[in-house]
Amino acid sequence: MFRPRRLRKSPVIRRLVRETNLSVNDFIYPLFIEEKAGIKKEIASMPGVYRYSLDRISTELDELVELGIHTVILFAIPLEKDAIGSEAMNKQGIIPQAIRFIKKNYPQLYVISDICFCEYTDHGHCGIIHDNDVDNDETLANLNKQVIAHAEAGVDMVAPSGMMDGTIGSLRYELDNNGYSQIPIMGYSVKYASAFYGPFRDAADSAPTFGDRRTYQMDPANRTEARREAALDVEEGADIIMVKPALAYLDIIRDLKNTFDRPIAAYNVSGEYAMVKAAAEKGWIDEERVMMETLTSIKRAGADIIITYHAKEAAKVLKRG
Ligand code: PBG
Repeated sequence: MFRPRRLRKSPVIRRLVRETNLSVNDFIYPLFIEEKAGIKKEIASMPGVYRYSLDRISTELDELVELGIHTVILFAIPLEKDAIGSEAMNKQGIIPQAIRFIKKNYPQLYVISDICFCEYTDHGHCGIIHDNDVDNDETLANLNKQVIAHAEAGVDMVAPSGMMDGTIGSLRYELDNNGYSQIPIMGYSVKYASAFYGPFRDAADSAPTFGDRRTYQMDPANRTEARREAALDVEEGADIIMVKPALAYLDIIRDLKNTFDRPIAAYNVSGEYAMVKAAAEKGWIDEERVMMETLTSIKRAGADIIITYHAKEAAKVLKRG
């Protein structure tokens, strides 16, 4: 008789037959950068995650390096917002400043930048508004300006998150024609219109002031469409394809892993993080175990890369062994 319990007898044999192993190399840590000086402010719905201005961020970057987390993704909290998100295209804007600062002082860090307008527009939508909706192709033209501002500042990789049709092809063309053919693009290929982004929108002051994002982000009910979205991004030249959020969409992560020959990223988003933190604060769950189980499930589903606010704490657990 085959007895599965034989291979569960001790920690050593369990580790030997373990199918999924998390590593600190899997993680990307999100950073919220404030243009206003002198800021280190904890985000209320995301305990342990802070907004930083560049004059205060070094302790955070030192800690990441110390923990072996070498990849960060940058989000902006600019001083000025307007209808078109002008600051997003400013070559001296907060993200170009942050890229230059990090690449100069922490050359060992790999810097990815978010390419989107929602953090820069006064209405909170991900592009230019015409007739109460985001105008796809005018937004593409502005995304091209944003990507060049980041490329000139020395960004290592760009990650467009706005779900405009044709973004990847448009950015790839723009980068290639300006001498940046070496900069990879991580597409937010399959991004659902999700309530799990709530705490992020607090963090980045990017909640839409009217309507919602359902005319550009995907319907959570759709699985076949996810393959179509990812196929478009791959055809247009995405180097990495992402699924977001992660936990309610593990089936989608697996579909993409089985279908496409590209590294798969998953974004373990703010609401997923907030739920773990809130339950832990109440003493209802074992936070560390729930965190590691969650991250393991995302990797087991097929993610090669995990963008997560848990990265620092998970790195500490992995280091301890
Ligand atoms: C949009 C963007 C969002 C997140 C990252 N980039 C949210 C949105 O669509 O409002 C969410 C990340 C998270 O919830 O952790 N540029």
